[in-house]
Amino acid sequence: MGRFDGKTAIITGGARGQGRSHALRLAGEGANIAILDIADQVESVAYPMATPEDLAATERDLKDLGADVLAIQCDVRDQAAVEAAVAATEERFGAIDIVLANAGIMASYGEKSQEMAAWHDSVDTMLNGVYFLMRAVTPGLIERGRGGAICITGSTSSFRGVAYKPEMLNPGQMGYGAAKHGVLALMKNFAMVLGKHGVRVNTVIPAGVSTTMIDNDFFSRDLAGDAPGGWMANVMERGPVEPEEITHAVAWLCSDEARFVTGQALAVDMGTLLI
Ligand SMILES: NC(=O)c1ccc[n+]([C@@H]2O[C@H](COP(=O)([O-])OP(=O)(O)OC[C@H]3O[C@@H](n4cnc5c(N)ncnc54)[C@H](O)[C@@H]3O)[C@@H](O)[C@H]2O)c1
Repeated sequence: MGRFDGKTAIITGGARGQGRSHALRLAGEGANIAILDIADQVESVAYPMATPEDLAATERDLKDLGADVLAIQCDVRDQAAVEAAVAATEERFGAIDIVLANAGIMASYGEKSQEMAAWHDSVDTMLNGVYFLMRAVTPGLIERGRGGAICITGSTSSFRGVAYKPEMLNPGQMGYGAAKHGVLALMKNFAMVLGKHGVRVNTVIPAGVSTTMIDNDFFSRDLAGDAPGGWMANVMERGPVEPEEITHAVAWLCSDEARFVTGQALAVDMGTLLI
């Protein structure tokens, strides 16, 4: 008996990193899974993004866990594509119960970070893309009347600034912070309306997580390289955690154990926001 037996989860950015980890956990606990990922490069992003091979590998691994899986190459910046992916998921599985708006980019470093495209890509992916998904799943969640859980992936950048030098006020970095702050407004409003329908809306707030987004030379050189002492420090005095640590919180937020938890931003940040 799994916590998510008979449920269907739709997960953006599911090809790798945290999205993949969430998908594997939910599948391991009984869910059918739709993973959506751009599986392509966005020009303003300096580090390599997920590939079609990553998406296929995650699909295979999910199937190996016994899950029924739909893997869709989908750019969350494209509203019509998100709507089509949601419709395909509902048609295939009959319902959507769990929604993880997780896809993200960090266009904060590298040459392209100073171009306005980096702002647009960041906001389009992490604010517009989250809204497109939430808007597309809402009618079905209400009509089916069987409740549900939405979990957005925020960031400690949902609450604080991280810039410490003029170069960091670049369009990529500012777009990241603006989008991550913005999703809290989406969470609060959707939580207020969907609560009486048994649909809960929460946000997980990771600090550093060991994924390609921060495990790359650009991050180490341009952001962390000349950072002042204490930059992004946390009270537990440790570095990035593995994606599975964030998955523990996401799985709990989406489970019946959290049945009365809604409108919350749950920080799994080792106390970063205390400083
Ligand atoms: N890694 C960290 O330190 C950290 C910290 C706080 C928050 N986050 C957030 O966690 C989430 C997951 O990131 P991650 O750490 O797993 O990084 P990641 O780069 O490994 O994974 C992000 C995934 O999103 C996909 N994606 C990007 N743009 C997309 C688009 N337009 N449409 C569909 N898919 C798209 C990528 O292809 C990739 O598979 C992001 O929202 C990120 O902002 C990460």
